Amino acid sequence: MEIRKVAVLGAGLMGHGIAQVAAQVPGYQVVVRDVEQRFIDNGEAMIRDSLERFVKKGVLTERQAKETLGRTKFTLDLNEAVRDADLIIEAITEDENLKVSLLKEASQKAPHHSIFASNTSSISITLLGTATNRPDKVCGMHFFNPPQLMKLVEIVRGAKTSDETVEIIKSVASRMGKETVIVKKDSPGFIVNRILVPALNEAIFLIHEGVASPEDVDKAMKLGLNWPMGPFTLLDYVGLDTTLAIIDVFLKEFQDSKYRPCPLLKQMVRGGLYGRKSGRGFYDWSKGPPEI
Ligand code: CAA
Ligand code: NAD
Repeated sequence: MEIRKVAVLGAGLMGHGIAQVAAQVPGYQVVVRDVEQRFIDNGEAMIRDSLERFVKKGVLTERQAKETLGRTKFTLDLNEAVRDADLIIEAITEDENLKVSLLKEASQKAPHHSIFASNTSSISITLLGTATNRPDKVCGMHFFNPPQLMKLVEIVRGAKTSDETVEIIKSVASRMGKETVIVKKDSPGFIVNRILVPALNEAIFLIHEGVASPEDVDKAMKLGLNWPMGPFTLLDYVGLDTTLAIIDVFLKEFQDSKYRPCPLLKQMVRGGLYGRKSGRGFYDWSKGPPEI
């Protein structure tokens, strides 16, 4: 099946980046849908900013950046986004109920042939597939933040995902310049987040217990393990709300107390300290990236 039109649902941290890497493929037309104009405006601004950086670095020519923007449309209307889409990539908030209800509605409006891919970090692909009227055409397509730079896409099979769906997503990821791994069994957090998210939660326990400061934990993991970003910079970058949602899925699905979210994480999310996207998390981002 040839993919010509890609709909991306959600224009947030991940949705804008996924839309951009899709629109950078010359044969794809992309439409991005969010629920409020301010989220669309923010997503579009992030795409423009990223394209500008690529032009400055010589990764893209000015013409390629302009053409990428020309292939990207934005809408608040779900019907307009999905009605003639060949591939629909869901990248909305990490919330099972929201995703189930959106996928149900979108699959009723989308053409019969279209494929659904979810960028969920942890939620069952089998469950999301069941919400649609075509579970064989649903799979996980898990990008990493920032999607414009990170090379990996995890392709996750749900219980009913067909081989053909996996092959199509593999080829789309490859056209986007990504490397793929196949997650054969639908399991919370797939590969990378199963390892990363408990590590990030453990880092928060270090602070909660007064063992070290966020700055020193970041310094330790950068210099001691060569992590490109320390865990607290990464937590702020990913979003504390998203991290808590993921660890909550682990706790619920594995029913193992080793996935208990750190109380400090819960408290910070309650306080709206989500990280970079809200201006403050473990660090203050209101005047740009923190100097660590
Ligand atoms: N678009 C285009 N260019 C960008 C960009 C973007 N969105 N973001 C950064 N850049 C460019 C910058 O222009 C800069 O270019 P030069 O090197 O030519 O100057 C370069 O990338 C580096 O940028 P920064 O100096 O701002 O930052 P950095 O050196 O720290 O690199 C990074 C950025 C690649 C993100 C790096 O810090 C990194 O790899 N961090 C870890 C990211 C990570 O672990 N992601 C996975 C998170 S987990 C996840 O995603 C899964 C989940 O479900 C939660
Ligand atoms: P975000 O909070 O930055 O953006 C979510 C966007 O979804 C918001 O703009 C919100 O308005 C929008 N949205 C909510 N309901 C919607 C609907 N019904 N239709 C369209 N848009 C809707 O979140 P994010 O970090 O971009 O995460 C999105 C998804 O990607 C989540 O499933 C998350 O787990 C996953 N993910 C996140 C990261 C990360 O590092 N943040 C990495 C990989 C995967």
